[in-house]
Amino acid sequence: MEVIIKANYEEVCREAAQMVTAALRKKPALVLGLATGKTPRELYRRLVESQEDFQNAMFFNLDEFVGLPPRDPRSFHHYLQEHLMDHIRHDPRKVFFLRGDERDMERYASEYEEKIQDVGGIDIQILGIGRNGHIAFNEPGSSLGSRTRIKTLDAKTIVEYAGIFHSPDEVPRFSITLGIGTVMAARRIILLAAGPEKAEIIHRMVEGPITAEVPGSALQLHPLVHLVIDEDAAAKLARRDYWKWVYSNKWRVGQ
Ligand code: F6R
Repeated sequence: MEVIIKANYEEVCREAAQMVTAALRKKPALVLGLATGKTPRELYRRLVESQEDFQNAMFFNLDEFVGLPPRDPRSFHHYLQEHLMDHIRHDPRKVFFLRGDERDMERYASEYEEKIQDVGGIDIQILGIGRNGHIAFNEPGSSLGSRTRIKTLDAKTIVEYAGIFHSPDEVPRFSITLGIGTVMAARRIILLAAGPEKAEIIHRMVEGPITAEVPGSALQLHPLVHLVIDEDAAAKLARRDYWKWVYSNKWRVGQ
């Protein structure tokens, strides 16, 4: 895992945007896996600002609330349209965002998993992390080998997402989400985190044991993860200075 500690949230997103645009230039038919939530907003703003050509790229996303159709303003589908897709040059036939309103959700989940494999897998997966350690909507206790499926949301996640609904009671109880195994199959992962509320979970994810209780800790087994975080989110890393040292010397090993 590469841990990149930036001064603030804007710098975190600038770094991630540079990684994505550099990869796109190398491979215009890039397969991108997108996250939603508060954290990647500035990344998407920067991708829009870059005016890169995404016409050949393919887009998948991580998760969706079960029951919400794509046009629902609270859906992740709508979020991605609003923050990214409406503003970049792309081919709508290459956008495969999850729908929360399919009739047979279990079957749809398996087909989504197959679709990712049919196109050759995800090149870059963007991730955030929940305060309880979830990645996508794989809540604590999720199988580390899980694939796309329906998951019950954790009570803490319901509270975290209450802001986009009127009250916690209105937050759907179920999500459709890529599994941890699906995320781990991505060739490269960029996980973004910022703010003091993420410091404890970043410490547990990076420096704690690999455990289903902290789904993000599974990333310790992935060969190419860039964890891009701000100083606040890095505050509880015991080896913070080591990560800074490694990053500041990166050019010497030509990576
Ligand atoms: C969203 C997702 C979630 C979020 C996580 C952090 O698609 O999969 O795992 O990344 O809940 O959300 P924020 O960025 O709002 O703190």
